Amino acid sequence: MVKRQQQPLSLNGYIVPKHIAIIMDGNGRWAKKRGLPRQAGHRQGAENLRRIVNACVEFGVQILTIYAFSTENWARPESEIKGLMRIFARVLDQETDDLNAQGVCLHHLGDLSGIEPKLQDKVRRAIEQTKDNDTLILNIAFNYGGRAEILHATKMMLADGISPDDLDEELFSSYLFTAGLPDPDIVIRTSGELRISNFLIWQAAYAEYYPTPALWPDFGREELYKAIVAYNQRERRFGLVIEE
Ligand code: IPE
Ligand code: IPE
Ligand code: MG
Repeated sequence: MVKRQQQPLSLNGYIVPKHIAIIMDGNGRWAKKRGLPRQAGHRQGAENLRRIVNACVEFGVQILTIYAFSTENWARPESEIKGLMRIFARVLDQETDDLNAQGVCLHHLGDLSGIEPKLQDKVRRAIEQTKDNDTLILNIAFNYGGRAEILHATKMMLADGISPDDLDEELFSSYLFTAGLPDPDIVIRTSGELRISNFLIWQAAYAEYYPTPALWPDFGREELYKAIVAYNQRERRFGLVIEE
């Protein structure tokens, strides 16, 4: 078992955020710019994910949460959805051994029951294979929506008979898919869009937002490093007054 760093690491004097979340956007535009089908952009996006996971391991990030398929993405054309499922299956088939060797522990955020059974099995196997690793926790948000997550948590709490008097933010958080994990410090969104698109709407309440014009397939190690530098230039006040 690979041991995870408990303290945030310093990278050339910069504090490395413990938990980085990424809205991986812009695959379609990346492909369009090159006159390629959208699926080529998604393939390139999956390639890039490998680069970013490697960079997170190198930089000492402890948790990486990636938005791979939203509850809203079901409204896309069926052929594109099929293509995305194929890529997800292939990534699990081809990358799990390597991720395991790097000490990556895979988690899934979202509703697994909504995807086809063979793919569900692959996800469960990958989670089982990597469960003892703790170099990097990789949360894959797939068939994930923040509102659906909050509804799901609420239903579970009602089913457990939680009393309103006992309910607080900590207990609520323990019913989310990210139970037990610290909130993201930074949410990166590629492709220049300035919206949250139903991603981690509870957990990212105090995250630093980092929009970047880079399209996801082009957001490599150097771009991640720049995001970490920018994070270090933010003053996280959490509602307090910081004395000069
Ligand atoms: C992100 O890229 C991948 C998913 C949402 C699955 P997009 O497919 O949204 O790419 P754009 O936004 O059309 O460029
Ligand atoms: C957000 O991207 C979802 C993922 C990256 C998986 P979208 O491209 O689906 O979001 P919108 O449609 O621009 O809000
Ligand atoms: Mg998009």
